[in-house]
Amino acid sequence: MLVMGIESSCDETACAIVSDKKEILSSVVWSQYEEHRRFGGVVPEIAARAHLEQVDVIVKEAIEEAHIDFSDLSGVAVAGGPGLIGGVIVGVMTAKAIAMSHNLPFIAVNHLEGHALMARLTNEIEFPYLLLLTSGGHCQILVVNGPGKYERLGGTIDDSAGEAFDKVAKMLDVGYPGGPNVQRAALSGNAKRFNLPHPMKGRPGCDFSFSGLKTAVRHQIELLGTLTEQDKADMCASFQATVVDTIIDRLKHGIQLFQEKYPHGKQLVVSGGVAANAMLRNALENLAQKKHLQFAAPPIKLCTDNGVMIAWAGIERLRLGLTNTLDFRARPRWPLDKPLE
Ligand code: KG4
Ligand code: ZN
Repeated sequence: MLVMGIESSCDETACAIVSDKKEILSSVVWSQYEEHRRFGGVVPEIAARAHLEQVDVIVKEAIEEAHIDFSDLSGVAVAGGPGLIGGVIVGVMTAKAIAMSHNLPFIAVNHLEGHALMARLTNEIEFPYLLLLTSGGHCQILVVNGPGKYERLGGTIDDSAGEAFDKVAKMLDVGYPGGPNVQRAALSGNAKRFNLPHPMKGRPGCDFSFSGLKTAVRHQIELLGTLTEQDKADMCASFQATVVDTIIDRLKHGIQLFQEKYPHGKQLVVSGGVAANAMLRNALENLAQKKHLQFAAPPIKLCTDNGVMIAWAGIERLRLGLTNTLDFRARPRWPLDKPLE
């Protein structure tokens, strides 16, 4: 079974061909960093236009790189939301056109489900598992019981972790995209120099909040006035360590809930763009070990948005007969734990 996956919900235009034998035949990711860099963040209209210009080229490249033809496909999957609606529409229209003209099943994948199931392609992961999904748009702790079967244990009440990385990077002018640049700058910084608040620490449940942390960083920057490169590195290191600490604190509660309710669940999985962060991966691995859970994280390049995750989620759905009709509506919002209405 070969499935094409198309992703265009944020600032990556991506297409991949994946087999149900867990082979990645091709994966083409075109990042729009250059388009958005001078604005220090993603501009939705520019993103939509860029997706429209690139999507045909990317799809063609994915087919050529895989050395297949459209007629070899068993289905076409697309991120149908949540995301920037202009981009999502571009992907959905493209996938529908391919499905219609080649008479293929059409599978609308929740972008978050793409992240959630990604590790099942690269690792041996059994349902149910505990998932920390942390990306630019989301920060949630979920139990994954199967495709379309999620129990949300907690989530952010304001910003996502990725958003906080991106905003702090912009404040410190360390470059776009924020996460990787903060991580790089933090390497030469002192994480103990700035004492930042740990939002929600010690509170019951597993909700997150990152907006107060971001404000605290802004405050410290204002107090410093002119920033040296060392000040920036120290701030990046302090901020990164605080985010990781906060996530670990919240996840401890998530693990407790998971282990009480699902005693047969054995794995902790992380996914989404922030899962590319080395310090977070290490901290999660240590926590999992202490709590007697196996830890799995997809390879770095499959943590950030890509077509493979959409194709793989498409395979998981297609195997269960979960396909969509061509009147599927692209959606800007689409909670993972709510069925498609
Ligand atoms: O999953 P993703 O590619 O897109 C969304 O679905 O949002 O996640 C992008 C987010 C951005 O906020 C980016 O700054 C963050 O992931 N990110 C990182 C790292 N690499 C990407 N955050 C921290 N450390 C990283 N190494
Ligand atoms: Zn994503």
